[in-house]
Amino acid sequence: MSRFKAVIFDLDGVITDTAHYHYLAWKRLAESQGVHFDHAFNENLKGIDRMGSLDLILASSKRAYTAEEKLALADEKNRHYQELIATMSSADLLPGAVRALDVVRAAGLRIGLASVSKNAFTVLGRLGITDKFDYVVDAATIARGKPDPEIFLKAARELGVAAEDCLGVEDAVAGVASIKAAGMFALGIGHPFVLTQADVVITSLNDFNLESY
Ligand code: BG6
Ligand code: MG
Repeated sequence: MSRFKAVIFDLDGVITDTAHYHYLAWKRLAESQGVHFDHAFNENLKGIDRMGSLDLILASSKRAYTAEEKLALADEKNRHYQELIATMSSADLLPGAVRALDVVRAAGLRIGLASVSKNAFTVLGRLGITDKFDYVVDAATIARGKPDPEIFLKAARELGVAAEDCLGVEDAVAGVASIKAAGMFALGIGHPFVLTQADVVITSLNDFNLESY
């Protein structure tokens, strides 16, 4: 029997690899503004919400932007992103993702999704896994993005589970920080040298189980 009562998953980079689509959309937007953008910089944006990511990109621009201009640029990036995700399907599920969700379900635990992406509902729909979650946080209702704990705490509250009884699953440094700040156990997906705050790090959800933690 697991010592947890709920597992709360991040979406991008954990269940599906949308990071590449975010990369392509940000690169197109950044270059339209004369800002160099590469894979290394994209790493800094993992788990960071749309406006926060835009601010990080525009910090390397020579000019200043008004709040209105920033909103227009964020919308433009989102249009590029939505074009890219429109063709997603269950083929875009990362290895082990469905198995992990089924393992948690079979163990009788609650399942939540805590993604700061305002496209999370669309992506879940395209992947065909919306009904595998008991609760999906609507990112539009979140005031403070990761690494703030707000989104994981909201998921726990809505699932009716205390934070200390939750296992959070994340691929981003900011996301792991959010889980730890919420007082949860953090399972990192990636590399232990990168996700230093995680309690346990595995390479992918292929290695997910509930017995080891
Ligand atoms: C996170 C991604 O899940 O969602 C970030 O890791 C992204 O890269 C963020 O910026 C916000 O996504 P969206 O779809 O609301 O622009
Ligand atoms: Mg992520």
